[in-house]
Amino acid sequence: MKIFITRIIPDRGLVLVKEHYPTCDIWSADMPPSREELLQRVRGVDGLLCLLTEKIDAELMDAAGPQLKVISSMSVGVDHIDVAAATARGIPIGNTPGVLTDATADMAFALLFASARRVVEGEKYVRDGKWETWNPKLLLGADFVGATLGIVGFGRIGQAVAKRAQGFDMRVIYYDPTAQPAFDAQPADLETLLRESDFVSIHVPLTEKTRRMVNAEFLAQMKSNSILVNTSRGGVVDQAALYDALKAKKIFAAALDVTDPEPLPTDNPLLELENCLIVPHLGSASQHTRDMMSLLAAENLIAGLKGERLPNCVNPEVYK
Ligand code: DGY
Repeated sequence: MKIFITRIIPDRGLVLVKEHYPTCDIWSADMPPSREELLQRVRGVDGLLCLLTEKIDAELMDAAGPQLKVISSMSVGVDHIDVAAATARGIPIGNTPGVLTDATADMAFALLFASARRVVEGEKYVRDGKWETWNPKLLLGADFVGATLGIVGFGRIGQAVAKRAQGFDMRVIYYDPTAQPAFDAQPADLETLLRESDFVSIHVPLTEKTRRMVNAEFLAQMKSNSILVNTSRGGVVDQAALYDALKAKKIFAAALDVTDPEPLPTDNPLLELENCLIVPHLGSASQHTRDMMSLLAAENLIAGLKGERLPNCVNPEVYK
């Protein structure tokens, strides 16, 4: 079997793949392969294990060839893969749901806290030598107890965020027309959620429906003291509209784990704003979580190569 793995993944999964397929081809550089390199290296492979940094489209599947049996992504999100094109070719796609729920919810809360309590601004203030005395009005932020958290997208991660919010005695409302109520969270329409929330946390997958969902109109409906947190995908936010809203102080702050593009160019205007906190897509970046993601990705790859059903398959219709 010919296999290409697009980066050195954590040992938990890599060791398993190597046990089964010792001659697998692994891209060993820190940076992902370029498009040309990727198209070249996938030629003739039976299995592909990729990351969210690779665009897996029809052209790439055709470059691989008709023997391609499985595409396994070490991610839960699959917006980098043309799922319809894979399904049309009968290729199952594997992803890694569940194992990154808690780490991502933790990151949403870390961003919420850091932003609401101005942790990064405070740290910079100290480093810049500006700390001269205790000042009763210095870097005042927002309270959590009694505040309303609005969760947009109430799947696994959105619900894990809701669970955490309960420990801080927050009121939780959510917008997700397909979700069942859970915990003490109340469903709301989007307009109500934006009008009432002190914090808005985004947890929708990136699809044609959700692309640029957080636009000027969305932001205009948020409270002027509210904070936007995004740990889903950068493409869900219209970043030009977000810049305008933050600059004009139409909302208090934003905290982003994800941007569009990634990495965010250093001259992006959002980086000029003190009320915008940006980290480099770290939602699932805990040791255990990344180990488990690599394991699930390896299991999907191996199952696909053996002609077995993938344990976590995005397009189960290929089995019909
Ligand atoms: C995923 O798996 O889709 C996450 O964005 C990685 O952090």
